Amino acid sequence: MSTVVLGVGGGIAAYKAAELLRRLSEAGHQVRVVPTASALKFVGAATWAALSGQPVTSEVWDGADQVPHVRIGQGADLVVVAPATADLLAKAAHGLADDLLTNTLLTARCPVLYAPAMHTEMWEHPATRANVATLRSRGAVVLDPASGRLTGADSGKGRLPDPDSIAAAAFRLLRPGRAPDLAGRHVVVSAGGTREYLDPVRFLGNRSSGRQGYALASTAAARGATVTLLAANVSLPDPAGVSVVRVVSTLELREAVLAAAATADAVVMAAAPADFRPATYTGSKIKKRDDGSAPALELVQNPDILAELSSARPRSGQVVAGFAAETGDEHASVLDHGRAKLDRKKCDLLVVNEVGPGKAFESADNAAVILGSDGSVTEVPFGPKEDLADAIWDLVAARLR
Ligand code: CTP
Repeated sequence: MSTVVLGVGGGIAAYKAAELLRRLSEAGHQVRVVPTASALKFVGAATWAALSGQPVTSEVWDGADQVPHVRIGQGADLVVVAPATADLLAKAAHGLADDLLTNTLLTARCPVLYAPAMHTEMWEHPATRANVATLRSRGAVVLDPASGRLTGADSGKGRLPDPDSIAAAAFRLLRPGRAPDLAGRHVVVSAGGTREYLDPVRFLGNRSSGRQGYALASTAAARGATVTLLAANVSLPDPAGVSVVRVVSTLELREAVLAAAATADAVVMAAAPADFRPATYTGSKIKKRDDGSAPALELVQNPDILAELSSARPRSGQVVAGFAAETGDEHASVLDHGRAKLDRKKCDLLVVNEVGPGKAFESADNAAVILGSDGSVTEVPFGPKEDLADAIWDLVAARLR
């Protein structure tokens, strides 16, 4: 059982923190809720006290004999701030301490996870951008807010990530040895399968669901990274705390990868880009012919994004990782094919999956062998795609150090 401090900021999303509190308590953690005075205008102290079974106050003066402004932070295994308002992020970034929560943030030496919620304008304001960058550079995990309906008639980026995904990020930080070792890093992950359209309704595509890439994005965010997720035709919900850029074709993915890679410390190509595209696109639906003949489909080869990025290395020290879905054949094993691909693509890490029934595609579980350009071989047993994602980030983080 861990001790979690749940700091609640004064925003309308404070009511969703009650759901988060339940998730944390149901997982067996002892949760001490520290709301700000404005948070109590949205959800009263009685709700927090009843749900947590712990005393609740915003003030440093209540129970001063226990020195709560120091002890609560010192005793915490994790501090989660949800919702983190623009004001709270600013106070935390500048080390202000005018209530119990901001004092707790200064005395805590454990991981701190912020789940911001505010209007889009406030999130995008240079002051907030600078405060978020400061907190991330100090090792705090600041999730990106979700997009959607905001208070009143507005919609856009700024919604509190849903309580389940905040809880998932919190649980990952509570795992032993799972420090936010990607804090201050920018990572780019591609996910899904590209589509190459023949006409407005038909495309060449593949079976990639995007699950492994999404697991990579959410685990990197939980480890403190700023994450750009390039999603090719994925129907999964956006992971909490990452910026999602949608692409359709391999050419669009290439452009997005090269643009994002300019500032990235690591790029993981988990997407399955189509290797070929139709030589021509027909602007209206291709019709059946009266004589029953089928049209010939001429294909041209797409660029190999991973190979191009590995040779370009737009940023020094950048770690580039790829995936290889392989089957063995009479000439070579799965790993032989993997090694040859690593040499050919010149990336730093290649995650080799054996493909076949029940493996890799559309499944929640995966097993793999991760080959390093330095000759290292890391076997990851069959398990959740998040575990494989963490094994990949372990190797990336070691190379970034
Ligand atoms: N990849 C890429 N650009 C492409 C094709 C693949 O960046 N046009 C990346 C994938 O994202 C993956 C890795 O390369 O990380 C391996 O993909 P794979 O399809 O196995 O490689 P290919 O070069 O297409 O090899 P094969 O001839 O075995 O299909």
